[in-house]
Amino acid sequence: MTILVTGGAGYIGSHTVLELLTSGYDVVVLDNLCNASAESLKRVELLTGKTVTFYKADIRDRAAVDGIFERHRIEAVIHFAGLKAVGESTAKPLDYYSVNVSGSVVLAQAMAAAGVTKLIFSSSATVYGEDAPVPYREDMPRGKTSNPYGTSKAMVEQILTDISFADERWSAVLLRYFNPFGAHLSGQIGEDPQGVPNNLMPFIAQVAVGRRESLSIFGDDYDTKDGTCERDYLHVVDLAKGHVLALKATEQSGTHIYNLGTGKATSVKQVVQAFERVTGVTIPYSIAPRRAGDLPAFWAEASKAFSELGWRAEMGIDDMMRDTWRWQQNNPNGYRG
Ligand code: NAD
Ligand code: WQD
Repeated sequence: MTILVTGGAGYIGSHTVLELLTSGYDVVVLDNLCNASAESLKRVELLTGKTVTFYKADIRDRAAVDGIFERHRIEAVIHFAGLKAVGESTAKPLDYYSVNVSGSVVLAQAMAAAGVTKLIFSSSATVYGEDAPVPYREDMPRGKTSNPYGTSKAMVEQILTDISFADERWSAVLLRYFNPFGAHLSGQIGEDPQGVPNNLMPFIAQVAVGRRESLSIFGDDYDTKDGTCERDYLHVVDLAKGHVLALKATEQSGTHIYNLGTGKATSVKQVVQAFERVTGVTIPYSIAPRRAGDLPAFWAEASKAFSELGWRAEMGIDDMMRDTWRWQQNNPNGYRG
């Protein structure tokens, strides 16, 4: 059975391609490599002993996407391709709506034309919005998003919901990720951000390896256990496995929503302490002002994915630290060597 993975050379995509291959699926990847390296897929091939068919193309290029459906008998699509930097989305909203929203529309049009109607979409906990009570449950309405990135995810969720309502052959699985951390246990594939990392884990890893001097913790005066923000961090390999299990849900028509998180909240200071404990490396940090748009604390109600898909996170924060560190030490400059 062949799965098309858009954005499959990226961080979560490459880990998912690996899990698909080891679960016996054939995989075709479309990625324009704007935030990834083809090296990730070469390493996935080495780790699995299997091959990946790769197309370097833009998700908005209808002819290129049509060509893939003509050449391969695709059973289902896992759609990761998109832009994901929250701050950048505020500065360049059109880029985000073009790639994330128009790109998803082009993909869905190409799928419809090819008669492929099973889609898994990378959504985000951010769609619950600024005012949702915690923990977030899938039956809560989407809330007020605070940036074009989050709005683009909410818009695509709605578009896919409408498509599956209009045509009963369609199945759209909306996976709302919480905060993915970590890397594959081999230390061969991991997160490789371009420029200064926006996210906490790659920043800590780059401080640890000497690429950056010190971590700024954005605020320690929140109403949380130690004053720093709390998030639901999950291991990227657990997240990748969630996609393989979610393929089961594409067998039923309609829209299916799942949180992929651990159900536990960890503070920024606890993350730093865990990294230091697991690696023995001290992370110099200072307290900086709050970052605009940060919510104090959110985490998943994670039971639906377990009861319906049989998925739950198996790894904890220490595993995420160990595996991030292994990846970062093996690849201090990411895929650039
Ligand atoms: P990533 O940037 O590593 O992966 C996205 C991939 O899409 C990259 O390989 C990039 O080259 C590709 N891409 C971007 N624009 C494209 C285009 N126009 N055409 C074709 N390919 C294109 O990011 P990731 O962390 O692996 O995230 C994957 C998906 O999950 C994204 O949709 C992201 O919004 C979503 N998501 C990520 C997180 C997170 O914290 N990492 C959380 C929630 C949701
Ligand atoms: C985590 C915590 C920061 C960096 C974002 C998106 C979300 C989703 C995941 C895609 C926060 C603190 C961070 C630093 C810090 N992405 N921090 N110093 O903001 O929870 O979620 O990525 O869908 O939509 O918003 O993740 O890793 O940026 O931050 O103190 O240098 O770490 O304030 O509390 P976030 P993050």
